[in-house]
Amino acid sequence: MKKIVITGGAGFIGSHVVRRFVNKYPDYKIYNLDALTYAGNLENIADIENKPNYTFVKGDITDADFINELFQKEQFDSIIHLAAESHVDRSITDPLAFVKTNVIGTMNLLNAAKTIWKNNFVDKRFYHVSTDEVYGSLGATGLFTETTPYDPNSPYSASKASSDHFVRAYGETYGLPYVITNCSNNYGPNHFPEKLIPLFINNIINHKPLPVYGDGKYTRDWLYVIDHAIAIDLVFHDGKNHETYNIGGFNEWQNIELVQLLCQKMDQKLGRKPGESNSLITYVKDRPGHDLRYAIDASKINKELGWKPSVTFEEGLSKTIDWYLSNEKWLKNVTSGDYQNYYSNQYE
Ligand code: NAD
Ligand code: TYD
Repeated sequence: MKKIVITGGAGFIGSHVVRRFVNKYPDYKIYNLDALTYAGNLENIADIENKPNYTFVKGDITDADFINELFQKEQFDSIIHLAAESHVDRSITDPLAFVKTNVIGTMNLLNAAKTIWKNNFVDKRFYHVSTDEVYGSLGATGLFTETTPYDPNSPYSASKASSDHFVRAYGETYGLPYVITNCSNNYGPNHFPEKLIPLFINNIINHKPLPVYGDGKYTRDWLYVIDHAIAIDLVFHDGKNHETYNIGGFNEWQNIELVQLLCQKMDQKLGRKPGESNSLITYVKDRPGHDLRYAIDASKINKELGWKPSVTFEEGLSKTIDWYLSNEKWLKNVTSGDYQNYYSNQYE
């Protein structure tokens, strides 16, 4: 029987990973360790909270004493680490918060794992979930591979790059069995409405302006969140120790084209006149240090583990919009309180 702690399991991607592991592996004991920051929400995983193989632990990965005690008590044999500060715009206003959670928090988990595992690494695994943003920005052509040099441009990506380096260093120096995955932009249900797709869905519903940064020609590679959770499951079980795997959607979109598609689909679903939501598109001041293009070469995970996205962008986007339209209460809850302050500081 495996005892796995998944960090950040009340957040967007983490909630889909926790759900998958709890439902698919009834013999594993799954611990969800989450501080419930503004981005963490137990409503995201309400459907599994009473499962016998599931335990929620509220706790902060930046608190070394707490993490050490928890690891000593529970003797986890695996960690799937997703807890992080994850929004680039917030990292521009408060970079230190990203160093604390993403770098120090990861260090605390590495140290706690190293301490309880001593030098017995049989059947142990430290899985660090990371981002393609560590590779920096691509020009008009080319793809990020696992050997692309790290070249982070935002405080967020610099903090994730730093934590990736520490994970790798613990592998080289102490023999800690790790895997790292670097994934492209995710979208799907439960995505906090500060990121492009859920923010714009919420604004379209509420007839609010759609703030496109710069000229809107920035490009991202979008992956449906459940396909990321499937990839994490595969790499966790079958990935090789001390390896990195890139995960991507083979699905590049310029922001402005994606936003136009979103407007078109939302107008259809909301019974609005074709083109109505396009009039909400507003070009605003660019993000400083804005990376031009991200795109992943996911051929390694495809060849070695047989993974590829299972959902087309059309299907994924349609499911995502439907989820937001039928989860009005979730959207209202997460956009009340502090969200209003964040929104006015960022956009008004
Ligand atoms: P998210 O912001 O939605 O969720 C983060 C979760 O971590 C929240 O539940 C939050 O409460 C928790 N958390 C934050 N600080 C914590 C702390 N100090 N202690 C314990 N818990 C804490 O993030 P997400 O979009 O689900 O991303 C999850 C991971 O995947 C991150 O490591 C991120 O870098 C990585 N990633 C995200 C994307 C993406 O497109 N969202 C793409 C690639 C990789
Ligand atoms: P985001 O969802 O923040 O993800 P990331 O910056 O990690 O890729 O942004 C995706 C793209 O959308 C990025 O190029 C920035 C752009 N964007 C806007 O144009 N307006 C917005 O309000 C936001 C949040 C993002």
